[in-house]
Amino acid sequence: MAGSATMTISTLIGLVVAMATTFVPQAEARAFFVFGDSLVDNGNNNYLATTARADSPPYGIDYPTRRPTGRFSNGLSIPDFISQHLGSELTLPYLSPELTGQRLLVGANFASAGIGILNDTGIQFLNIIRMYKQLEYFEQYQRRVTALVGAQQTQQLVNGALTLITVGGNDFVNNYYLVPFSARSRQFRLPDYVRYLISEYRKILMRLYDLGARRVLVTGTGPMGCVPAELAQRSPNGQCSAELQRAASLYNPQLTQMLGQLNDQYGADIFIAANTRQMTADFVYNPQAYGFVTSKIACCGQGPYNGLGLCTPASNLCPNRDLYAFWDPFHPSERANGIVVQQILNGDATYMHPMNLSTILALDSRT
Ligand SMILES: *[C@@H]1O[C@H](CO)[C@@H](O)[C@H](O)[C@H]1NC(C)=O
Ligand SMILES: *[C@@H]1O[C@H](CO)[C@@H](O)[C@H](O)[C@H]1NC(C)=O
Repeated sequence: MAGSATMTISTLIGLVVAMATTFVPQAEARAFFVFGDSLVDNGNNNYLATTARADSPPYGIDYPTRRPTGRFSNGLSIPDFISQHLGSELTLPYLSPELTGQRLLVGANFASAGIGILNDTGIQFLNIIRMYKQLEYFEQYQRRVTALVGAQQTQQLVNGALTLITVGGNDFVNNYYLVPFSARSRQFRLPDYVRYLISEYRKILMRLYDLGARRVLVTGTGPMGCVPAELAQRSPNGQCSAELQRAASLYNPQLTQMLGQLNDQYGADIFIAANTRQMTADFVYNPQAYGFVTSKIACCGQGPYNGLGLCTPASNLCPNRDLYAFWDPFHPSERANGIVVQQILNGDATYMHPMNLSTILALDSRT
């Protein structure tokens, strides 16, 4: 088990590069802000002293530049597909030196691989941008934009923006379940831990609202027990880990419920729940229906299911990334990310609550 713990430590690390050159945003383009972990990090960790990074090959092998960017993907990430749909330039990592002047008006990505809802999640990754710090950077961002366009325009930009937040998976895999008898698992039974996470997450979302966010897409956790890393460590027979699946099935409905309560409290549909657990489960349980040859074996990795350790230049690498649901032991492939974003945009009530992103964009364009 000690070996498996070490593997987990070296694994989860949550998912654009900066291609910005001389882009000048349209006056009417909607800003986009991103918060969270490796599933949405587009390169902030490249600027930090952390082991949670995706800045070496073969990461980025299918990105337009064919180079690693810091995204935990072979190509585009979930936020990238959303930016494309908004018709805007891909958001830059907040720590990028390129994020200056007019480019600030496109928005920013504050996400950092390895972080969780709790401050003690991801401590093994050392220097990462925890949630409270991402929110402090959002305040700093607003001061910088105010210096550029004034307070009133800044507030309009922030209130009119779309925000995405993806966090929570690491609170399980890189905290509660990181090692047997972890501090959090000795402190809390799973159902109590889930309630604690939800109550802490609620505070983070209320802070986002206080900072001006008015349309916030909130993703749940995926089917955490089914990722290649967990199959390799916990599943001799290739079945999804029952314990992590139980965690996901407790956590996700409570998250949706909490978002509904916040919306009631604010009297508006501020928070939009994206059921990424179901979206991912669709192709995890039925990969062929989505054109994948497998959802168990990662494209890049080593050991059983290519699920052990990190994706590095020395790892096994599949020739066609589009045929794999998982790019590395924890993170979906570019094509899988595109499928998830299609559901965020167009999914029915099983996937999106209270409505899908297309509906939101249509509503907001009328006001
Ligand atoms: C996380 O750490 C920051 C900085 O020390 C602190 O302000 C915040 O309250 C902490 N959050 C929790 C949930 O403990
Ligand atoms: C979601 O979006 C599509 C537009 O692409 C719309 O036709 C559909 O009715 C929406 N579904 C729900 C349940 O709101």
